[in-house]
Amino acid sequence: SRVVKLAVIPGDGIGPEVIAEAEKVLDAATAGSGIRFEKTHFSLGAGRFLETGETLTDADLASIKSHDAIMLGAVGGIPGDVRLKDANIERGLLLKLRFELDHYVNLRPSKLYPGAPGPLANPGEVDFVVVREGTEGPYVGNGGAIRRGTAQEVANETSVNTAFGVERVVRAAFALAERRRKKLTLVHKTNVLVYAGAIWKRVVDEVAEEHPGVAVDYLHVDAATIFLVTNPGRFDVIVTDNLFGDILTDLAGAVTGGIGLAASGNINPDRAFPSMFEPVHGSAPDIAGQQKADPTAAIFSTALLLDHLGLTAEAARVTRAAEEDIAHRDGEPRTTSQIGDAIAARVQA
Ligand code: NAD
Ligand code: IPM
Ligand code: MN
Repeated sequence: SRVVKLAVIPGDGIGPEVIAEAEKVLDAATAGSGIRFEKTHFSLGAGRFLETGETLTDADLASIKSHDAIMLGAVGGIPGDVRLKDANIERGLLLKLRFELDHYVNLRPSKLYPGAPGPLANPGEVDFVVVREGTEGPYVGNGGAIRRGTAQEVANETSVNTAFGVERVVRAAFALAERRRKKLTLVHKTNVLVYAGAIWKRVVDEVAEEHPGVAVDYLHVDAATIFLVTNPGRFDVIVTDNLFGDILTDLAGAVTGGIGLAASGNINPDRAFPSMFEPVHGSAPDIAGQQKADPTAAIFSTALLLDHLGLTAEAARVTRAAEEDIAHRDGEPRTTSQIGDAIAARVQA
C-alpha cells in the first residue's frame, strides 16, 4: 500500500480547530483505500514561540522537508501581545516555509457553490483561480529603516521581481488556463510600478505567443477589485504578484461565500520540495477557541492536497462532500466540529 508522509502544522487560534476537521475528512476519504497517511504533527506558531522562543528551527525545517506534503492551519498570535513584539511569526514561519520550499505558485481557487452565502445579488457563475506568485514581491523582506523613532525616520520596503521568478509563475498560469476556460488576466499596477510592471507585461506577452488559444487581458489592480465585485464571472485565471494576490484573494473569498470557504495551495510545481496546503484565512483571534470557525476552507485545501498527490478520486470525494454540505446549509449555526462531522459523513456515504 502507498504511504504518504504528511506534515501537519495546526498553528494558532482557529488553526488547530479547523485542522482537526480537515484530518477527520482526510481520514474518511482515505479509509480502506490502500493509501496510508503517515502524519507528523509540528507544534509551530505563536504558541511554540511563547513556550520556547523558537519560530522554525533548522531541525524543524529539515524534518518538514522530508515529508511528501504539508497541511497548515493558520499562524499568528493575539494582536497586541507584547511578548510577540519581536517575533514576527508570519515572516519567520509561514513566509520562511514558502520561500525555503520554493512555493512559487500560490494557487487560490474561488468558486461560488450553490447555496453559498455570497453577498452579491446576481453573481452568475463564478469560478476562477488566482495564481499568486509566492516567493518574490515585497514579501522578500528586502527592506530597512534608518533614524528609527525620529521625525526623520525613513523606511524602505523593496518589491523584488525577477524575470526568472515572473516567467515561471506566468508559465504555470498559462498551463492552468489551457486546462480551464482558456482565459488569463494579468493584474498589476503598471501605471505606477513601472519597472516591475514592465517585466510582468513583457513576460505575459511573450508566453502568450506560445498559447494562441488563451485569451489574455490586463487589469490594473484597483480596477480588478471593481470587477471582482461587479462581474466576477468574467475571470478564469488571474496571474498576479505576491502582494496583489494576497489582497485579491481575501476579496475573492468574501464574494464567493466567505473567507471560511477559501482554500489554497502553496505549490512547488517542480516537486523539489513538499507543497503546502492551507486555508486563505488566518488564525482569527476574534473567534478562536469557540468552535465558531468554518473548517470548510481547510477541508477544500485538503482536496487540493489530495489532487496534488495524484489522489484525484479521493480529492473529488472531498470536494463533492463539502459542496453538498454547502448546498444543504439552512442558516442554523453549527460548531466547527459539527461541520467537519457532516462533511466526513458525506465523504463516507
Ligand atoms: P483572519 O483571516 O484571521 O480573520 C479575518 C476575519 O475573518 C475575522 O473576523 C475572522 O473571525 C474571520 N474568519 C477567518 N477565518 C474564518 C473561518 N474559518 N470561519 C469563520 N470566520 C473566519 O485575518 P486577520 O484577523 O487579519 O489575521 C489574524 C492573524 O492571522 C494575524 O496574526 C495574521 O498575520 C494571521 N494570518 C495568518 C495566515 C496564515 O497562517 N496563513 C493567513 C492570514 C492571516
Ligand atoms: C495569507 C496571509 C499571509 C500572506 C501573511 C500571514 C503573511 O495573509 O496567507 O494570505 O500575506 O501571504
Ligand atoms: Mn492573506
